[in-house]
Amino acid sequence: MNLILLRSSDQFEKMKDAKTYFVIVIEDTDNETIVAATTLFLEYKFIHGAGLRGRIEDVVVSQSLRGHKLGKVVVDTGVQLSRKLNCYKLSLDCRDELIPFYQSLGFKAEKGRANMLVQRFSD
Ligand SMILES: CC(C)(COP(=O)(O)OP(=O)(O)OC[C@H]1O[C@@H](n2cnc3c(N)ncnc32)[C@H](O)[C@@H]1OP(=O)(O)O)[C@@H](O)C(=O)NCCC(=O)NCCS
Repeated sequence: MNLILLRSSDQFEKMKDAKTYFVIVIEDTDNETIVAATTLFLEYKFIHGAGLRGRIEDVVVSQSLRGHKLGKVVVDTGVQLSRKLNCYKLSLDCRDELIPFYQSLGFKAEKGRANMLVQRFSD
């Protein structure tokens, strides 16, 4: 199954122009298809000295290739990139059954905010 990513290149251009979306993909170069993807979204926080908060969004792996660590690779790339871009924290929302998957990549549930997984890189 191929991933359906965007309906038009115009949409991708809009994301690119915003300069706050970093789309991370793994390509099967034999078939020229994208088999795994996620997006790191950066948000400037007005109440945090315009510090950068990162969010991991839209994590997906092509169905036939799940269980081969591609999900881990794209998310971990987003984590490394958010550190490099000096985010003070990185978070994501996920379904309950995926909490162990994200915990294995360093995300933690914060007390009182159990529906959000966070990595804090600084206060
Ligand atoms: C969730 C998803 C991205 C995981 O990608 P993947 O490439 O299959 O996962 P990986 O092979 O990198 O798995 C890494 C680890 O997470 C575990 N894991 C993966 N999917 C899991 C699931 N649904 N429930 C529990 N554990 C899971 C694996 O068992 C593996 O554990 P291990 O390191 O102990 O062996 C993929 O299943 C997917 O695209 N799902 C549909 C879209 C989706 O739900 N996205 C997440 C939105 S928050």
